Amino acid sequence: MKHGQLPNTVIDLFLESFRTGQGTRRLLNHLVIVALDQKAYKRCMEVHAHCFALVTRGLDFHREAYFMTDVYLEMMWRRIDFLRSLLELGYNFVFTDADIMWFRDPFPRFFLDADFQIACDQFSGNSSDVQNRPNGGFNYVKSSSRSIEFYKFWYSSRETYPGYNEQDVLNFIKFDPLIERLGLKMRFLDTAFFGGLCEPSKDLNLVCTMHANCCFGLDNKLHDLRIMLQDWKTFLSLPPTLKRSLSMSWRVPQTCSLNSVHQYDYPEKSDQQTLHR
Ligand SMILES: *[C@@H]1O[C@H](CO)[C@@H](O)[C@H](O)[C@H]1NC(C)=O
Repeated sequence: MKHGQLPNTVIDLFLESFRTGQGTRRLLNHLVIVALDQKAYKRCMEVHAHCFALVTRGLDFHREAYFMTDVYLEMMWRRIDFLRSLLELGYNFVFTDADIMWFRDPFPRFFLDADFQIACDQFSGNSSDVQNRPNGGFNYVKSSSRSIEFYKFWYSSRETYPGYNEQDVLNFIKFDPLIERLGLKMRFLDTAFFGGLCEPSKDLNLVCTMHANCCFGLDNKLHDLRIMLQDWKTFLSLPPTLKRSLSMSWRVPQTCSLNSVHQYDYPEKSDQQTLHR
């Protein structure tokens, strides 16, 4: 697929999902897009009202940061540190990657009493089960001494597990007794509401968000995000009886299929392929 044939970027599709979602348009007033370089900041200002430039001196994030390279790791850890600073300022937040489509207001599905709740690549069926596979791309965190200490611990664990990204490290530290000592209440969100390409939300009557996780390559990701958005619009256009009949399911993953990762015939620049989570 050639770039020239793609009018929409990830951020366009992301914003489009808020506009077409149920009860999500009003959330755009509360959405702050964090740009990691000047170009992204400029682009943000063209398409959205609230943009924040998170500039890291000496670091250049302006090119695609390929999965697990030094620049990628630096970027992912920078965001944990940034979110910690938001908690210290007293803000609760929902963090979302831009490759997550927002189809319904997620707030009614959040746990009322959790400090840290996070979406999953795979959901075990039990939201308290630390064996769940969390995905750092979507979480809801409430500001408290517990969550602030947790974020500090998470960030500092980077030193304990060098070369791992923040999601891998979360999978190590989620078992750590310190979390219980802090009294942090961690909950894992059901893929029935917070789905993704790893494990799609089965019922479009319930879905809140869909993440283009388990996806290899930016073009593949864009392709499947577009299909997802089309599927959602098709669902919205169905008469109520058909909506309830559960007749409709997602046509994705298509190009994001993990099978295609293994079958993919790498071009010469295989080092430039990206596993987008
Ligand atoms: C869910 O997981 C928690 C923590 O592992 C466990 O204590 C609880 O019994 C589990 N609940 C069910 C219904 O299996």
